[in-house]
Amino acid sequence: MALQLGDIVPDFTQDSSEGSISFHQWAGDSWVVLFSHPADYTPVCTTELGTVASLKPEFDKRNVKVIALSVDNAESHRGWINDINETQKTTVNYPIIADPDRKVSDLYGMIHPNSLNNLTVRSVFIIDPNKKLRLTITYPASTGRNFDEILRVIDSLQLTDNYQVATPANWKDGDDCVVVPSIPTEEAKQKFPKGVTEVKPYLRTTPQPNK
Ligand code: BEZ
Repeated sequence: MALQLGDIVPDFTQDSSEGSISFHQWAGDSWVVLFSHPADYTPVCTTELGTVASLKPEFDKRNVKVIALSVDNAESHRGWINDINETQKTTVNYPIIADPDRKVSDLYGMIHPNSLNNLTVRSVFIIDPNKKLRLTITYPASTGRNFDEILRVIDSLQLTDNYQVATPANWKDGDDCVVVPSIPTEEAKQKFPKGVTEVKPYLRTTPQPNK
């Protein structure tokens, strides 16, 4: 059965552009973004991996490790990294898992039978420090991912893990939040001293509590 949100993600040991990686041990106490791409030396993937390298300081700030994967081997990854660095004006500063035997792709359901033959799709997995799966997204091969959106989701997850709020449509760090439905408005006013606005009894907003 496919991985579900809240599952402990499968552990594995696999070669990568930076040598052998035992995944849970490598992740340690960090959040992880694991993302797969169809193949090395392809144009959209080249821009994606360069973008993630440029965003590395943003991931670091949030205690997030990033790791990519495709079914190509580690030697191919290392050669392609030179091209990414050259063309995207960056330095790929995270590992790319080599999965020619499809071990990890099968464990995580990254090969979709109706998609390109035997190639990993553009999957994204956000994994928390308890190794629980917190988000999955799958994009078609023709659409490069928006990694600002991945950072936005991480901000929301890290906030809502610590406060009884949720984040509304298109929320970004610093915007007002919504109070979770389980808290009565009077109690919410105590919990959120910056103020609670009751738009409807079920729709209450409050300034972001950790700002
Ligand atoms: C790409 O990364 O450019 C790509 C890969 C597979 C199909 C289409 C585009």
